[in-house]
Amino acid sequence: MTAHATLFKPLTLGKITLANRIAMAPLTRNRAAAGNVPGPLAAVYYAQRASVGLIISEATQISPIGQGYIATPGIHSAEQIAGWRTVTQAVHTAGGRIFMQLWHVGRISHTSLLPDGQAPVAPSAIRAASKTFTSEGFVDVSMPRALRREEIAQTVADYRQAALNAMAAGFDGVEIHAANGYLIDQFLRDSSNRRDDDYGGSIDNRARFLREVVAAVSGVVGADRVGVRISPVSAFNDIRDSAPQALFEAVAAQMQALGIVYVHVIEGQTGGDRNTPFDYRALRRQFKGAWIVNNGYDAAMADTAITAGDADMVAIGRPLIANPDYLARVANGAALNPLDQATLYGGDAHGYTDYPTLTP
Ligand code: PHB
Repeated sequence: MTAHATLFKPLTLGKITLANRIAMAPLTRNRAAAGNVPGPLAAVYYAQRASVGLIISEATQISPIGQGYIATPGIHSAEQIAGWRTVTQAVHTAGGRIFMQLWHVGRISHTSLLPDGQAPVAPSAIRAASKTFTSEGFVDVSMPRALRREEIAQTVADYRQAALNAMAAGFDGVEIHAANGYLIDQFLRDSSNRRDDDYGGSIDNRARFLREVVAAVSGVVGADRVGVRISPVSAFNDIRDSAPQALFEAVAAQMQALGIVYVHVIEGQTGGDRNTPFDYRALRRQFKGAWIVNNGYDAAMADTAITAGDADMVAIGRPLIANPDYLARVANGAALNPLDQATLYGGDAHGYTDYPTLTP
């Protein structure tokens, strides 16, 4: 008998059908090769995990100025598109589905990672109390400069081109990363956005950049292939908002109006506790499409959430790194491999493609 049968029901996501209700969360692994091309083992790594209903790729920068960490992949060069094509082909051959997560880190970067040693860009020139990983190890992020209006338009165009590139690489869709204190979240939240033009101030103004990105990306790939990830109360990367419930309910309603296919919500503190107060049911009432939840779920919690109607799908992160056959283990009630923290970020096959499966 299959445990947690609810998790094994298919889900229609726009034009595609997903085999089950478990998604692989986007997970930074810092193993890109020269030119920030997906590394030689990336296709193996993702294909090993293709039994989940939907893989969301590791966060992938849309442009050189959008990079914030060493050895993260991009989707802005021909070599990167070709590298990602080997990944999507391997996943599809294994019967899986994969969206690319489109990423611009904004102020969470360091001059040593950026072209010509430029400063990172942000809605406002406010430095985050946060660190990033460079060739010198963990360092404080650099002081950012505020984007000019015409640069905001160029950044929207960069998202559009990156989405086109992702589709050219064979992805089934894209997830716009609007969470975790990166560029779009920096526009959304009032601790990082102090602009006095129509991209700052009111909730509607702070959400303008996200709306423009979603509209531009939807215009080229179709809204039924676009998801958005948010983290309403996460303080990850030193970010806060004075009224997160109002802000994110407005965001969810705007995503409904734009017709995207899913919203993906990190509940609580990214990779940490889930206890920060927030009414996620009220948030969900603003959006009629697929609802993906994430943060510290195990199979029992995922089953409960989906059974209660609080989610359509649950994104699993670290357990999927350590258990490529996570779904088979859930179905059989088998124990999970423990995660090796030391091999999470950077390195080789060890801790990447060599976790054992139940059936070798
Ligand atoms: C990270 O590289 O640490 C990272 C990237 C994207 C996230 C969160 C963390 O959303």
